[in-house]
Amino acid sequence: MKPIRKAVIPVAGLGTRFLPATKAMPKEMLTVVDRPVIQHVVDEARKAGIEHVVFVTGRNKNVIEDHFDRQYELEDTLKSRGKVKELAALEADTPGAGATSFTRQQAPLGLGHAVWCARDIIGNEPFALLLPDMLHLGETAFLGDMIEAYGQTGGNLIGVYPVADEETHQYGIVDVAGSAEKVAKIARMVEKPARGTAPSNLAISGRYILQPTIFGLLSRQERGAGGEIQLTDSMLTLARSEPFHAVRFDGQVYDTGSKLGFLAANVAYALANPELGKDFRMILKSLAG
Ligand code: UTP
Repeated sequence: MKPIRKAVIPVAGLGTRFLPATKAMPKEMLTVVDRPVIQHVVDEARKAGIEHVVFVTGRNKNVIEDHFDRQYELEDTLKSRGKVKELAALEADTPGAGATSFTRQQAPLGLGHAVWCARDIIGNEPFALLLPDMLHLGETAFLGDMIEAYGQTGGNLIGVYPVADEETHQYGIVDVAGSAEKVAKIARMVEKPARGTAPSNLAISGRYILQPTIFGLLSRQERGAGGEIQLTDSMLTLARSEPFHAVRFDGQVYDTGSKLGFLAANVAYALANPELGKDFRMILKSLAG
């Protein structure tokens, strides 16, 4: 079984739900506490042992490339001012030379198309896919749990988390045929089921491990819901010939692509922050009270 060495992070979406904040700045650079959203996601990938991150970018996204580059002037200034801690933190956050690639999705034709844009850089090996909007706050790096599960199951895996029954129509839903196991074979997948028809309340969390056979299906460029090239459509076709397992995340998932999710993420990450948590809790209490 080939190991999971590379991860794709698509960042070419327009972020229309966050206008005007995203007019000139990518939504992935909005900060949750003191780190851009995208840094939280790259941290998760690196903790999970990913060696190479492929960013699928679009117009207005150059700042993401700069963010993951070294900033020599800044490093020199920190050094000369004796800011050893800040310098070490910057170094730790920056992937090493040759550990990132950037490719362009020239038009936002959908998530499936964005993933397909990474095909030549991924080549013929299984890879991880992380949707940068979705932050997973838990004890461990969730992608690491998924890679561990992959060691047992092989094939394709999808991260899932329970959502309220009345919200299932907003998500991609998977059915694990009644299994209560953390890792379970997927019996059915359905994208945004009509209200009251969802086969379960397990929503796709934005973390995947996929076999490179997905690229062959994506290359058909078939348009799905909303006229976009949908990843789910190709996964549904792939599921006819290859196994798919769900891995349940037991922490909290925040969709930072929505305003409420973004605000909730800031509160949750600030409360969990060892330096800020205690004082922030007091502030929250007085604000809410
Ligand atoms: P979303 O639909 O949540 O992102 O796509 P969006 O289009 O940027 O947001 P809104 O709805 O306009 O506010 C999920 C992920 O897929 C990427 C996005 O960047 C996001 O990380 N994506 C989506 C692409 O890279 N390309 C696309 O064509 C579509």
